[in-house]
Amino acid sequence: MDLQLIFPTPVYIKDIATEAFNQELEKNIFSWAKEDGGITKTNVNGWHSADNMHERKEFKGLVDLLFEAQYFIYKQEIMEFEPVLENMWANINPPGGYNIPHIHPNSLWSGVYYVKTPNNCGSLILDDPKTQSHMMIPKRKSGIIPPSFLWKQIEYIPKAGRLIMFPSWLNHWVNPNKSDDTRISVSFNFTQKSII
Ligand SMILES: [Fe+2]
Repeated sequence: MDLQLIFPTPVYIKDIATEAFNQELEKNIFSWAKEDGGITKTNVNGWHSADNMHERKEFKGLVDLLFEAQYFIYKQEIMEFEPVLENMWANINPPGGYNIPHIHPNSLWSGVYYVKTPNNCGSLILDDPKTQSHMMIPKRKSGIIPPSFLWKQIEYIPKAGRLIMFPSWLNHWVNPNKSDDTRISVSFNFTQKSII
C-alpha cells in the first residue's frame, strides 16, 4: 500500500552559529538584562526581555541568520515573499526556571535559538497538535523507535548554536532547568507581509 502523510508537522533544525558568536550574544544579553527588568510571559523564575530584540543593533547578526532560515522555509513551503520578523526576545532561565505550555498567536513561524545550554538545562517539548488522536494511544512493540509520523510528543535537548523553527500554532513548553547554571535562548515570531 502507498503511505501518504497528509497532515505532517514541519520542524526545521539547523546549527547556524559558532561558540564565539554565542559568547558575544551572551555578553550583550546579560548587559541588556542588567539595564532592563524584563517582562513576564510564559517564563517562570526567569528573565524574559522586552520583545523588540530585533530592533537593537547589537543583535543584527542573529536577525540576519533568522531571516536566512525563514527564507529557506518560505521557499520550501511555496510561500509568497516577504517574511516579517514581528518580535524577538531573549530568555535567561536560571536553575529551576521553565516555560509553561503555550503557542505563539498571530504569527506563522516561531522558533528558538540556543545561546547557552549547560547539561540538563531543560528540554524543549513539542506536542502532537492532532488533539483528537490522543483519545486512544495504541501499544507498540518495544525496542523499535517508531517513524516520526507516529510520535505524540518530542523532546529536543537544547544545543548552543542550534536553531529550531516550527509553525506558531504548535503547542510547546520548556522543562525546568535542572543544571546549576543559566540557560540562555532567543525566541521570535515571523509573519508574512501580505497578511499584516
Ligand atoms: Fe514558545
